[in-house]
Amino acid sequence: MNESIPNTLDSGERLPLARDGGWEFETLVVHAGQEPDPGTGAVVPPISLATTFAQEAVGEHRGYEYSRTGNPTRTALETCLATLEGAPYGVSFASGLAAEDAVLRLLSPGDHAVIPLDAYGGTYRLFDRVHGPVGLSYTPTDESDPEALDDAWRPETRFLWIESPSNPLLNIVDIAEAARFAHDRDALVVVDNTFATPYLQQPLSLGADIVVHSSTKYLGGHSDVVGGFVAVTSPELAERLGFVQNAAGAVPSPFDCYLVLRGVKTLAVRMERHCTNAAAVAELLAGHQAVHRVLYPGLPSHNGHDVAAKQMRGFGGLVSFVLTGGETAALEVARSTRLFTLAESLGAVESLIEHPHRMTHASVADSPLAVDPGLLRLSVGVESTTDLLADLRQALDKVAR
Ligand SMILES: Cc1ncc(COP(=O)(O)O)c(C=O)c1O
Repeated sequence: MNESIPNTLDSGERLPLARDGGWEFETLVVHAGQEPDPGTGAVVPPISLATTFAQEAVGEHRGYEYSRTGNPTRTALETCLATLEGAPYGVSFASGLAAEDAVLRLLSPGDHAVIPLDAYGGTYRLFDRVHGPVGLSYTPTDESDPEALDDAWRPETRFLWIESPSNPLLNIVDIAEAARFAHDRDALVVVDNTFATPYLQQPLSLGADIVVHSSTKYLGGHSDVVGGFVAVTSPELAERLGFVQNAAGAVPSPFDCYLVLRGVKTLAVRMERHCTNAAAVAELLAGHQAVHRVLYPGLPSHNGHDVAAKQMRGFGGLVSFVLTGGETAALEVARSTRLFTLAESLGAVESLIEHPHRMTHASVADSPLAVDPGLLRLSVGVESTTDLLADLRQALDKVAR
């Protein structure tokens, strides 16, 4: 390699990262932030467990003082993920919700945000029960409808918070359009890119200001680490988020940083396989008599199909569907799959099935965001397509009889 790939910053300061040197995404996932360790030649960034770092004289150090403030393994992770999002700055957190919480701390009492009508339940709870009581207001809105967006807008709206595809209905928002709308009104656009990942969609290049991730999902990819990440282009936002990261202290452990770095190396190949398997699953569901409706942006019948085709490289690994037999049938299917494990979460190599109404979205049960009890959400993994389809077919056949 004769062109430089963004390397572990040798300083704990939040410096703009080197640009990607022209490397393709598939190369960056493996190498960005992770050139061989200058001290030992180790090809994997060491897990730096030290909580404190020796200083030559007071205030004279090699970029690291105390591990909450800055840690070399965390720097490698932040460099890598920021590069993948095409961002000059990245800040990592102990969970996706910790990352979202840090972003909401950019707002002040009296500010207002527009959020998706089917926001992830935990995001809704964060707005409603953590930031609501201290003065943040919000309006859940169908963000794919410009008139609804206009109706929800207030003079004090500061954030347009987007999930595209959304959790669990896989709605699609035209990010470039939404960014023009919000910027004309002096608001910032935040995109939760957890479902798409930077392999399928890069919101900053579409005009978004802030990207948030639950790296617990596809970035980690193996159901073995909880983490969060924020990417921004503005140095001022980066500085404020870095301040919150240090001052509030919801940092990821060095081992967790290592796990996400390890997982993300295969992001490109995993996403290709997730997309292929999910498309096959969506097709099976669409043709099965037990299924009333399939929600998958890859299906031409999906409302957001054309926008998704324009702004994404593939349609993702999540598929939701509503059973003709309502909740009873949904619970029976969830109980009957053998390969799809009944569990919360998504985005890992193994296929999962869940019932949003009683599981991931239970916290929105009595709100305008309540989810249809007949809905199931699948996180389609990377296993054999044939085995996945056979498993689903036998579970659906039980409720079609
Ligand atoms: C779209 C989305 N955003 C954020 C989160 C929160 O992430 P975490 O569980 O890592 O806190 C989740 C979790 O499921 C999610 O699905």
